[in-house]
Amino acid sequence: MTYQKTQNNAPAEGTSSTRRSLLTKLWVLLGLVALAELLGLVFAFFKPRKQTTNAAVQNAIITAGPEESFLPGTVTAFVRGRFYVARLADGGFLALSRTCTHLGCTVPWVARENKFICPCHSSQFDITGEVISPPAPRALDIYQIIIENNVIKVDTSKRKKRSQFAASQITYPKKT
Ligand code: FES
Repeated sequence: MTYQKTQNNAPAEGTSSTRRSLLTKLWVLLGLVALAELLGLVFAFFKPRKQTTNAAVQNAIITAGPEESFLPGTVTAFVRGRFYVARLADGGFLALSRTCTHLGCTVPWVARENKFICPCHSSQFDITGEVISPPAPRALDIYQIIIENNVIKVDTSKRKKRSQFAASQITYPKKT
């Protein structure tokens, strides 16, 4: 009786070999999938990065307006590009980031106090973006200003960090 049961439950030689062959194929398939993923990763790693296109650079350059529309000692906000154009008392220009260098809040210009005052932790910056009251650890970031045909343009593609204000950061209009 027992002998018969064992014999009935034992897999036939053909069935076992089919199962083994199926498992082998499955392993080969999984191996190929893993290899394809690995090759994809290697390819992505070595693929050259896309260069910034001229169109992207052009889009990042924002026309702020003619020189004469910015009076000395004023700050003008630009929503697109999230920057300020500050015209200093001596006629020079700075393009300042609106982002506080403490924890990244948007810093408004408070004209009646003639300074930027961060609403989050009360850091204060003067018209050049220099810290006049911490906790902000450094001056507001700046953008490059381009003056073409007496028109102020701001290149927002590269925001430049700085520890403090320096006169070399000012852009002056060409003397006519
Ligand atoms: S985020 Fe501006 S002072 Fe903290």
